[in-house]
Amino acid sequence: MEFRVVSQDIQALTADAIVVGAVRTADKSSPVELTSTASSVNSALSGLITDSCANGEFKGSLGELLTLHTTGKLASKRVIVVGLGSSEKITPQLLQRASATAARYAQNTGVHHIALAIDWTSASMNVSQSVQAQVEGTLLGTYTFKKYFSSDAPESTIENVSVVAPTADTALVEKALEKGRILAEATNFARTLVNEPPNVLTPTELANRAKNMANETGLECEIFDKEKITELGMGGLLAVTKGSAEPPQFIILRHKGGNSSDKGLALVGKGITFDTGGISLKPAAGMDEMKGDMGGAAAVLGAMQAIAQLKPDMNVTAFVPTCENRPSSTSFLPGDILRFFNGKTMEIVNTDAEGRLILADGLSYAVSEGHSPVIDLATLTGAIVVGLGTVNTGLYSNNDQLTQDIVSSGYAAGEKYWPMPLDDEYADQIRSDVADIKQTGGREGGSVTAAKILENFVGDANWAHLDIAGTSYLSSKKSHQEKGGTGVGVRMLTELVLKRATRQ
Ligand code: BES
Ligand code: MN
Ligand code: ZN
Repeated sequence: MEFRVVSQDIQALTADAIVVGAVRTADKSSPVELTSTASSVNSALSGLITDSCANGEFKGSLGELLTLHTTGKLASKRVIVVGLGSSEKITPQLLQRASATAARYAQNTGVHHIALAIDWTSASMNVSQSVQAQVEGTLLGTYTFKKYFSSDAPESTIENVSVVAPTADTALVEKALEKGRILAEATNFARTLVNEPPNVLTPTELANRAKNMANETGLECEIFDKEKITELGMGGLLAVTKGSAEPPQFIILRHKGGNSSDKGLALVGKGITFDTGGISLKPAAGMDEMKGDMGGAAAVLGAMQAIAQLKPDMNVTAFVPTCENRPSSTSFLPGDILRFFNGKTMEIVNTDAEGRLILADGLSYAVSEGHSPVIDLATLTGAIVVGLGTVNTGLYSNNDQLTQDIVSSGYAAGEKYWPMPLDDEYADQIRSDVADIKQTGGREGGSVTAAKILENFVGDANWAHLDIAGTSYLSSKKSHQEKGGTGVGVRMLTELVLKRATRQ
């Protein structure tokens, strides 16, 4: 998809469709309000949009669409009006979704060139933020994963996007467009990693994709093989991988943008390329979605791609332990006692609680290099899906500033993070009679006790754990989004790094 900024008169613009916006207001007598570009288009079409609002055909609800044919009144053939919902409720996330819905619809109805002219701004959203959200939405909404279809029927795609500059400052618009493009492409890279089937995306293949991305973007890349992992004593990663014929990998990527004396921020991602549950086997229904159990790894790799391209003045290092979790005669067992990279021991209760085991090694390795803050992302527990559903990601942290930064970076990125507790009382549930820690804390507060286990492996670092089990995979498609990996975390992490780099 090629993007360019255009500042020409909307009437002379030759696109297959112009996308404009409309909002709902509190005004009962005329509840739909057009943005300024939508107003110009409306005048050129002799009031067709306002007619549709007056007769009740179009209400301006979020994601609602109205298509009009210009019949020569504009150089472009079609106008797509997209509803942005109540004007006082518009956020970057909702603007992304409205743009995504319009672009998806356009793509599915034969549009190859769209002009993006939603031009919404408000006290809480400036031109840059608005353009960024529209570009992100366009790329996220038109993303598909169709590479494994054998038919070669041509797929309709949007090839060109003209971003209509809402201001004379086109350099500002260019910059926002570029940032939005980098963030959305990195998100889509993560989505593809999640969507790839487990027979393709093995731990070795995940490492290859990380290496290729690093080579293309200029990141340093180092990959530990099983021998090195054994030598380092990563007992969690080694235990989980035992039942699989596929070798484990430990991926490290480094963005060197800061002073070498400052170790900088670390990202750790859970990279279980398939989670059968192991000996504590999962039920068959829905197990296919466990190809997405490397969503944390995908988010971290996607964020590193965006960071490499946006080049913040800060060091950022990614650590990804990756393996399969399978049942076999060589699998690890309930009752096993493991020893991790930091020397701590754990009594295994359920081999399906494997994420915390590979993260224990990933986190303790990251803190051994001296990084702080350390942020891990993991599709860790079914309990967080019960607690927060698919809307918010569970956020656990030992540092208030980091919590606030994640919530606000998430807002800018169009992602939601909800702070969760880490009280010491929860640690009672993970006390073992035979080892330092018990692997699981029972049903009660299952996502919290999982976070409490991870806390044992972060030393003195400022740390946040993001349980993305509910937010990283979409089980059925929506008007703004394809089914499958969501790439959650990529844009928030990148915004967070950009924010911290400019603050220091
Ligand atoms: N990968 C799963 C968690 C998960 C559940 C991710 C649903 C995405 C959607 C994890 O490895 C797991 O199996 N967790 C167990 C832990 C339990 C055995 C303590 C769970 O949540 O049931
Ligand atoms: Mn599991
Ligand atoms: Zn898992």
